[in-house]
Formats: sequence, structure tokens, C-alpha cells
Amino acid sequence: MFQQSDGHDGRVIIVSNRLPVVVRGDGDNLALLPAAGGLATGLRPLHETGDSIWIGWAGDLPTMPRATRKRVVRELQDRRIQPVELTRSQSHGYYNGVCNGVLWPLFHYQIDRIPLTVPEWEVYRSVNERFADAVVREYRDGDAIWIHDYHLLLVPGLVRDRLPDARIGFFLHIPFPACEIFRVAPWRREILAGMLGATVVGFHTPGYASQFEDAVRALTAFEVEPGRVTANARSVRVGAYPMGVDAAWFTAAAATEAVRMEREQLAGTSQQQLLLGIDRLDYTKGIPRRLLAYEQLLRDNPEIRGRVRLIQVAVPSRDTVPSYQKFRREIDEIVGRINGEHGTVDWTPIRYLHQSVSPTQLVALYGAADVMLVTPLCDGMNLVAKEFIASRADGDGVLLLSEFAGAAAQLPEAVSVNPYAIDEMAAAIKAALTMDVAERRRRMRALRARVAAEDITWWAASFMRDLRAERLDGRAADPAGESAAHRVALADVIADLEIPPVGIEHVKALEVLTDHVRRRVEAAAFQLRLD
Ligand code: F6P
Repeated sequence: MFQQSDGHDGRVIIVSNRLPVVVRGDGDNLALLPAAGGLATGLRPLHETGDSIWIGWAGDLPTMPRATRKRVVRELQDRRIQPVELTRSQSHGYYNGVCNGVLWPLFHYQIDRIPLTVPEWEVYRSVNERFADAVVREYRDGDAIWIHDYHLLLVPGLVRDRLPDARIGFFLHIPFPACEIFRVAPWRREILAGMLGATVVGFHTPGYASQFEDAVRALTAFEVEPGRVTANARSVRVGAYPMGVDAAWFTAAAATEAVRMEREQLAGTSQQQLLLGIDRLDYTKGIPRRLLAYEQLLRDNPEIRGRVRLIQVAVPSRDTVPSYQKFRREIDEIVGRINGEHGTVDWTPIRYLHQSVSPTQLVALYGAADVMLVTPLCDGMNLVAKEFIASRADGDGVLLLSEFAGAAAQLPEAVSVNPYAIDEMAAAIKAALTMDVAERRRRMRALRARVAAEDITWWAASFMRDLRAERLDGRAADPAGESAAHRVALADVIADLEIPPVGIEHVKALEVLTDHVRRRVEAAAFQLRLD
């Protein structure tokens, strides 16, 4: 896919903490299964069909018996995967300590969850160095390197030190917070310098891109203009690339017999309307407040008791991190209380599943839901919202979407909610449950068109196009003379308008200005939706 989309021959080296597969079982029962999560799910089909190699953390590999380990490495290499091996203490300090103990809560505005002392930064740095070593070992002239997410913030800079002419992309899958939050990080300048080792730095929304630029402006002496930072005489492109899903796959899956049977089983003979939540069990996803809003709905509208039900799937996640263990107990308690207080002998208000579901079950659940509840407190993008839309080939169903999910910037036809306003959320759920069919279909049609057009292939292709378009000295490349041609055409248009003669430099200045205005308008439009 990578070559077909951008017409270049070099390989793509994908670098991420999580690999597209996880190793399950042992001995003869060993299997490589698809890994869960947005990044792995999104990039897997691109890797399977493209000339890429994937470098990532190999999990338990170092603790396996030698023969098993050899077999797994061989199988991974057959899939063009290069495992990075970490010791228990390295993975503990890096993944549990810094990535999910500090960076995750910080970038999601949950600074109270950061522990008082964080002794593991050295470990994070040394693990990033191991990833950089692996990249340098694999790299061949002409390759593009695409590094992902908050686990590897220092890798672009570390690779740049050793491969000064490489094309390096970096994409952040979580929000980049407002500068006032980001500056809390004790290693804030090292993080920015690391990210700015890239040729292109990408985010899900224009808002995150501007916040990154604000942080660079406030915390470094580098020159910043909209969409570009000049760092150590190298120009770095900064842009928004909203990640999509494999929409065609979800739409096709919805039409299969297996999904149809599963969906019918779910509906059963019940006339109850179905509310659905599907999340990783993470405190950023807003599950407790969503449950409280549902409880509020039942309290305010006693007539709907027994006529509605909520299925909440919480996929186990990061359960070796203490804050996640505590959070799990919190949810168990709320679910137990609501079911205990509001349930009857023949009706259970919430079916709570702390487990992952198969792809067939997932698409069937999306298809059976009357209202999909996606109400994170803060979320880089949220691909569940897009998967739901892509699965609704029937054109029906309502999406209730938090205004604090990156997806909200792209999906204005969803019913927008503030997940902190529990009363409002309860009222919005009621409005969604009672929305008339024409309105539901009108909204879903618009949502489906966008999710189909801006899918996972479009996302990767847009990022790679910009990465390939940059000159290796960091300035924008123009191999096909495209932008020069554009400028000449624009100059012609201006000439036709009978404006006094302008040179190419004026047109260039106009382009920069236009880009600046576009970004401001996009940010203002997003703010308007929030208001
Ligand atoms: O949102 C960031 C992210 O890395 C996603 O790509 C993925 O869905 C999730 O976090 C998975 O987390 P982990 O790799 O810790 O299971």
C-alpha cells in the first residue's frame, strides 16, 4: 500500500511500541494473534500489503525457553517484524513507569494521577535508544522511517543524530496538550527536541498541532510559523492528519452471515433499545460518568426502565499499572450499585463485560446498537466512533460523541456531549433514543461519507505524501515542480484580477498567510462547536 499510494519505491520502516501481533500460548500451542488497539489495528493492513518492516517491543520474548524464542523470532521475521527485546525491569520502568504512569495521564490532562516521584526517566531514555539502534540497523538509503506515539518521543532525535539525511516521520496518537499542561513534564525540552528530530511531525487535529507549536514557541528558541518549525537550521513540517479506520472492511463485515446471526442473537426477542459502550478499560474513556448519566436517565424517566439496556464492554488494558487496577474496582462498584438499585428480577440495566470481543461480535454489537456512547474525558481521536459508523451499512443508529474526542472535529453530525455534564449527557441519551428515523438517517449518511472517504489508507497516504515531499535538508521538496506550477497559476489568476504585478515571492507569502488563516478558522470552528 505504501508504494501504491505515494508512488515511491523505498521501504517504510514502521516503529512503534506495540507490534501488530501478540504471542499467545506456549510450546506447540504457540500462536501469533492480532494485537488490539488503534495503532496496531490501523497500521496492520498497511503493513500486510506494503513494502514495510515493523520494529516494536516483543513482550515476553526474553523469558521464553530458547527453542521457543527462536521459533517466535523466525515467525516474526517471516512477517517482516523485527522485535526489540527488553528486560523485565526495562519494560516495567519504560511502559508502566514513564509511558503509562506519567506521559499518558499528563497528555490527557490528568496531572493528579502522576506519581510524586518518577525515577524511571533514564530507563525511558535507554529504551528509546534501543529502538533507535534497531532503526539504524535496519535502515537502507531511500527508506522512509515512520515512528509512532508517546512511547518513542525521543527516537526521532536519536535517529537523526546518526542518520542526518533520513526521512523521518513522527505521529502522535494521543492529544498534544495545552502548553500550560505540557510544561509540567520535567523533561519537556528533551521531549520537544526528540520530536523535532523528525522531518514531519503529525497529530490527529489542527488543535493539537497548534498546541505543539505553542509549546515549541514557549520552551525553545526555535523559530515557529504555522505548520513549520526551524530547529537547528532544519525545517520540520507540523501537520494534522486525522487517523481513519478500514471502513470498507467494517462495512463488508456487517453484511456477512456470521455477523447477521450474532446480531439476531443479541437482539433476541427483546423490544428493548440498546445503548452500547466499547472502550479499553482506561480512566480517560469516561466510563464512570457515562454510567452515572445512564443512572440519571433511569431516575428521571422511570417509564423507560425495562425498555432500554446498556451493554458496556471494557477491554482489559495495562492491568499491571496500579492506577488501572484501582480504576477497575471503581467501575465494578458503580455497575454493581446501579444494577442492584435499579434492576428487577427480569431486567438488568447494565451488562458489563470485562473482556475483549471477537471481530464478529464487535461488528454485530455495533450493528445492534440504537445509540453508541463514545464519551471520553479526553481522547486523541477515538476510532471506536468511526468503526461504529463504518459498520452501519443500514444507515441507521445514533452516535453520541464527547466534544473532547479528536474525532469530534471531523464528525459534527454526531450528537455532541460534554462528558463532565452528567445531567446534559442523560438528556442527550434520551434525545438520541427518541430521535426520529429521518433525522438519524440524515446524520448517519453524512458521517458515513466522511468515514469512508477519510479512511485508514487516506490517512497513511496523506502523511507519507507530505513526508516524501520534504527535501532532505528539511525544506519542502518540489520534485515535480508542482508547487512552482501552482504559484505560477496563482500569479496568472491574480494577473487576471488586474491587481498590480506580483512576483512568485508574493504568492508564496500569500500561501503562508492563507495557511495561517485556514488554521485559525479551523480552530475557531472547532471552538464554536464546543461552545
Ligand atoms: O491511543 C494510544 C494507543 O497507543 C493506541 O494506539 C492504542 O489503542 C492504545 O494506546 C493501546 O495501548 P497499549 O499499547 O498500552 O495497550
